[in-house]
Amino acid sequence: MPLSIVILAAGSGSRMNSQQPKVLHQLAGKALIEHVLDTVAELKADNVFVICGHQGELVKTAMAHRNEVIWVVQKEQLGTGHAVQQVLPQLSVDHQVLILYGDVPMITSATLQHFVKSTGKSQLGLLTATVDNPSGLGRVIRDEYRQVTGIVEERDASDLQKQVQEINSGIYCVYAKHLQDWLPQLNNQNSQGEYYLTDIVKMAREHGVAISVSRPKDVQEIYGANIRAELAKLERCYQYWQARDLMLAGVTMFDPARVDIRGVVVPAQDCIVDVNVIFEGKVTLGKNATIGPNCIIRDSFIEEDVVIEANSVIDGARLEAGCHIGPFARIRPNSVIKTGAKVGNFVEVKKATLGVGSKANHLSYIGDAIVGANVNIGAGVITCNYDGANKHQTVIEDEVFIGSDCQLVAPVTIAKGATVGAGTTVTQDVPADTLALGRCRQSVVKGWRRPTKKSKG
Ligand code: UD1
Ligand code: CA
Repeated sequence: MPLSIVILAAGSGSRMNSQQPKVLHQLAGKALIEHVLDTVAELKADNVFVICGHQGELVKTAMAHRNEVIWVVQKEQLGTGHAVQQVLPQLSVDHQVLILYGDVPMITSATLQHFVKSTGKSQLGLLTATVDNPSGLGRVIRDEYRQVTGIVEERDASDLQKQVQEINSGIYCVYAKHLQDWLPQLNNQNSQGEYYLTDIVKMAREHGVAISVSRPKDVQEIYGANIRAELAKLERCYQYWQARDLMLAGVTMFDPARVDIRGVVVPAQDCIVDVNVIFEGKVTLGKNATIGPNCIIRDSFIEEDVVIEANSVIDGARLEAGCHIGPFARIRPNSVIKTGAKVGNFVEVKKATLGVGSKANHLSYIGDAIVGANVNIGAGVITCNYDGANKHQTVIEDEVFIGSDCQLVAPVTIAKGATVGAGTTVTQDVPADTLALGRCRQSVVKGWRRPTKKSKG
């Protein structure tokens, strides 16, 4: 049966107390609405409508890359029922309509697929859950035969109704024809003076339309974010789900509550992730990779047996098998650290390749450079890649030894096997197998005495 999806995202989200539209607040580094869009993409629906209104232009701009979305504007936010009414002219009568919320981002495609499938064409599908603390949510009201008769918002509920623990997720699967019949009949006789979508449940009952109730696979899937504290709760829950998946895939986490994944981590067996690690973008891990505490890793390939020690920041890099990074290293975009190479503390690498088995162990900047194999870069070596206007490249060939505290003024090449003495400022190419020295000769003053303090007289 053809399927249309309608995502409500027009509300002002005033309870967030924000200048930003609620659906653009982030869960795991991604806008709430984008989570919903990514999830529904798996359903391969015929149409995806998003109802926007309050700060709608901001939402549209932020989601401009989502070509599948048909935007529908709800000029005034008169309630969830009124919101769905705005899409009626564009809905095909014979479609099944799945209604979702921009502020309920953790719903899974598995739950939705099951929900859509189990709702018959002539039925109204409700997704509900029984929770310990239903406060703030709409309650599912049933009669003495346990048949659903309607939904009551908390602020409209009697004390008895408030005790009901079965809550309305707000997610419905409904035949478009029924929406066309029912929505024009909604009224706003309730405490908020809004046109509630929830009232279609009562109408279904009145019109003799069967109500089919489904449950999400996990109750937490239907949690929404109306206030920032709820958003934080969603974040913790979502992070735990991701950590759980990594652990199932063979990753050891010393404390899954202290690892955050804001993107996608492709796991491998026997990786170890210590505490306070943040992954961003897409990170691929190789077998036995070890990530120490307080590391941030973004958009990188980490191959097998890599060791990243504490407090390192890796961004847009490829760390080849068995290389050793940190502690306190910073690897910036377009860097490749080849097999077995070492980058030590307070070393920054940018747009550079460090060859097989090469080492930069202490206090260096290696930017716009190609470093060959088995090169030793001493402490405090700087590639001077920037002349104030343009960036230039430094080439360091295989087997080069660069002593401590050298500046390599690019563009410059240090050819194979050359040695650069400590403290040298290299401004010209160094030929293979030579020694380059560029520092003042030391002089020694014999009999020299340090000044002494004058005694106060
Ligand atoms: C709604 C349900 C409640 C359910 C809860 C689950 C109603 C009346 N209540 O309450 O039963 O338990 O969701 O999370 O439906 N929106 C618009 N236009 C509007 C008003 C809202 O597009 O005029 C959008 C909002 O942007 C939001 C969604 O609809 O994405 C839900 O609105 P919200 O005000 O958050 O409803 P709840 O109070 O959470
Ligand atoms: Ca809500």
